[in-house]
Amino acid sequence: MEVIDIPTLSVLDARSALWRHRKREWLNIIGVDSTSRENVLYGSLAMRLPGLYSKSREERERLGISFDEYVKLYAPEELTKPATKMSEGTSTFDPVLAEIIYHWFTPYHGARVFDCFAGDCTKGAVAVAMKHQFIGIEIREPQVDANLDKVRYMANHPRYFCGDARNILRYIGLASQDLLISCPPYYNLEVYSDLPDDASNQPTYEAFIALVKEAYSKAVECLKRNRFAVIIVGDIRDGKGSCYNFPGDIINIFQDAGCSLINDAVIVKNDATANMRATRYMKSRKLVRIHERMLVFYKGNPSSIKKYFNPIISPYE
Ligand SMILES: C[S@@+](CC[C@H](N)C(=O)[O-])C[C@H]1O[C@@H](n2cnc3c(N)ncnc32)[C@H](O)[C@@H]1O
Repeated sequence: MEVIDIPTLSVLDARSALWRHRKREWLNIIGVDSTSRENVLYGSLAMRLPGLYSKSREERERLGISFDEYVKLYAPEELTKPATKMSEGTSTFDPVLAEIIYHWFTPYHGARVFDCFAGDCTKGAVAVAMKHQFIGIEIREPQVDANLDKVRYMANHPRYFCGDARNILRYIGLASQDLLISCPPYYNLEVYSDLPDDASNQPTYEAFIALVKEAYSKAVECLKRNRFAVIIVGDIRDGKGSCYNFPGDIINIFQDAGCSLINDAVIVKNDATANMRATRYMKSRKLVRIHERMLVFYKGNPSSIKKYFNPIISPYE
């Protein structure tokens, strides 16, 4: 595939025909369709009970049975209910966005790309399809297993480790990576699991930010100098309706870690249900959010970017 010709402007329009067409192409390549997503990756029992999934691994292997069979036949009922209210499905990363990020912010083919809050396999699959290397750290073992299952057929396939983002230096060397691409949990907007170290399962926003700060500060240590970190983030509201200013906190975290903010772009999402929520939201004068932000940080002196990154010709100049 030729690299997509998206205008290099600060508004990225995922609603455009070009973007949507490209997304279908990527989903065919990666092999993620909406059915397999719901039934295999996201709605599965393993995804909803990640703690039990990990704890029962040895016993399941000994018995030679699947997790679903294990839950039906052996698990005590009290262990088959998630401790917290978890979302039924998780959001997936947009493959076109991943493609653009790799095109614009990697220094060369064969770059080392990583994510300490990996989630689904999209970022990894697009990275290796574009001839980069990819490592993801993800706290939920069923998600790691699902990712590995999906990507194992790919040449030079992405690698995933099950662990806490704060322990990233156990998996990735200091100053060894060319790009950090990451979409952190949005506090408890989607609660991914009842694991105590899951960022989405923290008791307060402050505890959540402390965890994210520790994880991203260590991730910056894994980046080489003169390289980018690209974080996709959206704001979230507290119970009363005030915004936390989560993107602002992310900017502070990276600036405290010594990075410069180079771009603050808006991604306009293709959300078919947004209008259906608009009247209800407007009662309390809230706008339905159909955008996220792409925050691009640079570890190094920004005036050196031209030295390390080749020119990219804007297709619409
Ligand atoms: C925003 S989601 C990823 C969503 C989306 N699929 C994506 O790829 O952008 C963030 C991921 O971080 C994981 N996570 C939460 N706390 C973590 C931690 N302490 N260490 C590593 N991963 C964590 C969650 O399980 C979730 O899959």
